[in-house]
Amino acid sequence: AAISVQGANAKPISDLLLGIFFEDINYAADGGLYAELVQNRDFEYALSDKEGRDQKWNSTYAWTLKGEQTAFTMDSAAPIHANNPHYAVLQTTTPGASLVNSGFDGIAVRKGEQYNFSLFVKQLEGKGGKLLVRLVAKNGEVLAQANVQASSGTWKTSRAVLVPNADATDATLELQPLAAGRLAVDVISLFPQNTFKGRINGMRADLAQVIADIHPRFVRFPGGCVAHGDGLHNIYQWKNTIGPLQARKPQRNLWGYHQTAGLGYFEYFQFCEDIGAQPLPVIAAGVPCQNSGNGPHGGGQQGGIPMDQMDEYIQDILDLVEWANGDATTKWGKLRAAAGHPKPFNLKYIGIGNEDLITDVFEERFTMIYHALKEKHPEITVIGTVGPFYEGTDYEEGWEIASKLKVPMVDEHYYVSPGWFINNQDFYDRYDRSKPKVYLGEYAAHVPGRANNLETALAEALYLTAIERNGDVVSMTSYAPLLAKEGHTQWNPDMIYFNNTEVKPTVGYEVQKLYGHNSGNEYLTASINVSNNTEVVKKRIAFSVVRDSKSKDVIVKMVNLLPVTVNASVVLKDITLANTKGVKTVLQGKPDDKNLKPVISDCTVSENFSSELPPYSFTIIRIQTK
Ligand code: AHR
Repeated sequence: AAISVQGANAKPISDLLLGIFFEDINYAADGGLYAELVQNRDFEYALSDKEGRDQKWNSTYAWTLKGEQTAFTMDSAAPIHANNPHYAVLQTTTPGASLVNSGFDGIAVRKGEQYNFSLFVKQLEGKGGKLLVRLVAKNGEVLAQANVQASSGTWKTSRAVLVPNADATDATLELQPLAAGRLAVDVISLFPQNTFKGRINGMRADLAQVIADIHPRFVRFPGGCVAHGDGLHNIYQWKNTIGPLQARKPQRNLWGYHQTAGLGYFEYFQFCEDIGAQPLPVIAAGVPCQNSGNGPHGGGQQGGIPMDQMDEYIQDILDLVEWANGDATTKWGKLRAAAGHPKPFNLKYIGIGNEDLITDVFEERFTMIYHALKEKHPEITVIGTVGPFYEGTDYEEGWEIASKLKVPMVDEHYYVSPGWFINNQDFYDRYDRSKPKVYLGEYAAHVPGRANNLETALAEALYLTAIERNGDVVSMTSYAPLLAKEGHTQWNPDMIYFNNTEVKPTVGYEVQKLYGHNSGNEYLTASINVSNNTEVVKKRIAFSVVRDSKSKDVIVKMVNLLPVTVNASVVLKDITLANTKGVKTVLQGKPDDKNLKPVISDCTVSENFSSELPPYSFTIIRIQTK
């Protein structure tokens, strides 16, 4: 293949092309990225979270009583906060029994590290109520222990630090009342001291680091379907997810489990700041999934949020902008400052709607929200939605509304076969440049039920070359879903799999990371000449050339999805090299390979150089220019 690059013919492209999409699916949040080690810490799990599939899924889930002479009951007569109505009561006649939490598939701890324990506790009867807190290994060995004190009559927080004397993957947390009496306990929490960037109420350091390593330019959250919910009462309300943990409002996750909201808007925004990414919250467009007002737990009006409640709903969205960007003298900015972030978060983008069914009900509500945001916050770029996409359909109605309203950008989603990506590299070449820009908010080369492999990863790499070529119309992209916990995976493939102790980035992750680290803000026009000119061959070789105007590096990406080596000769016209030292990164293997890492080496470059593209490979050559 002969690739000819025209250095003098560059077009500006988006510098936000590669981002990530975080959704609480596959236990991505509680039991996942959120570093809390205690499951059901606030006794708010409810049978309705699981839709009756698991009768044990109630406020005592993950808790058991070990021993005798103590009764463990639930109460809701005088909770810490109305949003967190249930708490546990331990009535002890003779001390010795413990309330035990099994964590999320066990509690994993490391020898010598610090774990911060806290709980809300009040003495209901008896005096001097002390509790012994222990981390206990499966074989019964006590790994760490400390005492905490209850106060009489009122809810108070007690804390202790636990430092295990050995590693364990399946420890439990035990709470043992040390005197006869009655104690109420709630929001029982155990966090590693070592969270990502040392944040309190923070994220799992290893998992967050693997995400940060992609170098994403933005983070979309909290969903996906989680954002718009499957009924009116399941729409994600950002205000329920900020402030003290005991006052946050947990709710059913439509993926069939429970959201504590411990990983809430403050934590999402802070994470974005910590990794240098733009925050991109997505808010429901006044309609739940498929406009299902009467969804499983909706109980509301068919369709969308009733019109007489829309003003209040829109105000919540305007309040979000004030919470994120207002100074500490504003009502909502003050709350952000009180939570520990006096400086604004500098929110620039808000998504309205997620893959919604495009109906009149949707259009009416989306239009109201869009106009209100545009009027009150013209500085915010609104990203609309054009509905679901399936192979063989298009987004016609969604695009019509977005174009009519002149929405700056729309969110498209597609989970399609590797073949679709190979055959549709011209998808965006055909887009009308005068219409809204595109955020490809969810995509994956998808073979249902199968984890990704080099074949799917290369299909994505190849398609991303076409995205870079169309970086004047496609402004952002994010692969989906991002995370999946082993044993709790509801959707395949995902980008990063994990369990309590390991993080397992896929080969698809490597492609995302390579794009994150090799982005540019200019696309250099180039042409390719393939000696074997058949359609099948041509479609399986793809390339893009970008320049990063800051470093002046020119980055050549080449994908070879053929089973044979391809010799690529690259001619760089109107480009002055700074030296002849290039850096070459190659990801290669067999189509079915799942655990591959790119190999980086030095190479020699000139204005006219050659590179062998191995069978089934993604090659990046980075060249310093003047
Ligand atoms: O990424 C998984 C789901 O796919 C998202 O929640 C939804 O937006 C899409 O249908």
